[in-house]
Amino acid sequence: MKQTVLLTGCAGFIGSNFVKTVACRADIKALYDFVIVDALTYAGNLENIKPELDAHSHLKFHQIDIRDSQKIHDLFKKYAFSGVINFAAESHVDRSIESPNIFVETNVLGTLNLLKESLALFEAKGNFKYLQISTDEVYGTLQMEDAPFTETTPLAPNSPYSASKASADLICRSFFETFKLPVVITRCSNNYGPLQVEEKFIPLMIKRALANEPLPIYGTGMNIRDWIYVDDHNEGVWKVFTNGTAGEVYNLGGASERQNLDVAKMILKALGKPESLLKFVTDRKGHDFRYAINFSKTQKELGWSPKVRFEEEGLNRTIEHYKKLWAK
Ligand SMILES: NC(=O)c1ccc[n+]([C@@H]2O[C@H](COP(=O)([O-])OP(=O)(O)OC[C@H]3O[C@@H](n4cnc5c(N)ncnc54)[C@H](O)[C@@H]3O)[C@@H](O)[C@H]2O)c1
Repeated sequence: MKQTVLLTGCAGFIGSNFVKTVACRADIKALYDFVIVDALTYAGNLENIKPELDAHSHLKFHQIDIRDSQKIHDLFKKYAFSGVINFAAESHVDRSIESPNIFVETNVLGTLNLLKESLALFEAKGNFKYLQISTDEVYGTLQMEDAPFTETTPLAPNSPYSASKASADLICRSFFETFKLPVVITRCSNNYGPLQVEEKFIPLMIKRALANEPLPIYGTGMNIRDWIYVDDHNEGVWKVFTNGTAGEVYNLGGASERQNLDVAKMILKALGKPESLLKFVTDRKGHDFRYAINFSKTQKELGWSPKVRFEEEGLNRTIEHYKKLWAK
């Protein structure tokens, strides 16, 4: 019999790519139905998954806010889910500095709503898996000489965003420790690829470059992020969901640490634009210096590793996608 899995936040960047490349794959479609919920905030666009919703009867969509405990309760009553993958979140660090409340409401309390309903189903019928999509930002920041984060690095989040994600991770952990709800957590580095909202770093740089407008670079531009192509991330999510051990955390990294300034320069070069478009602006408050992620546990235990190389493949593919949208 087919299983029904709840996917949250799949009108956004990572989730919509998950629908395209994982949920619609023939082998997966044969075994699973997916119910997608999204509140359609500024970051969610139903157009991102409209072709898939129109073409595939194993996908259903409901516009629901995960903060709405009654609607989430009714949804779990309607569908006897065998699992949840929670992509839904407020995800922009800059917005969390301006307005932190919504980050706690969605990322912490919304997650708690999902966990409580998951637990009720798990206790009623067993056979359940809950996957929480988290971030490497929960580990805090690194200096150049520090070793990359592992799954046992202590949580030390610095922004309201990462603090809300770390809080959600701890609530998830508690549901495993207290109730034995089969929870797994993935922590990934910065995703890049098609369908990201344009205020995030890589699409913003591309959009500004295409329009010959200044590319804003925080501080000195020396901050380092590890970049993972969104399809590599989503392959890892599915591996962890289907084969990960309950109660465990799995890091998913891209093996592509780059300084922000270098990424902006690569984009300018690929588009044939001058570096004079770079504009250094006041640094983000509490800006984490470096993220780097050790994913050898996921590699060893689940046979996953990132495939898409940053400069040679992923960045060009991403630039081509946004060029089609924005080039005049
Ligand atoms: N983008 C990254 O680089 C990155 C890195 C690490 C972790 N993550 C995590 O991955 C997940 C997805 O990130 P993304 O980049 O796709 O984010 P996104 O902001 O592009 O999309 C988030 C989606 O969640 C929906 N949403 C927001 N609040 C909701 C609510 N209350 N109820 C229901 N839906 C709601 C939005 O409408 C949107 O469709 C998030 O949990 C994020 O914390 C992202």
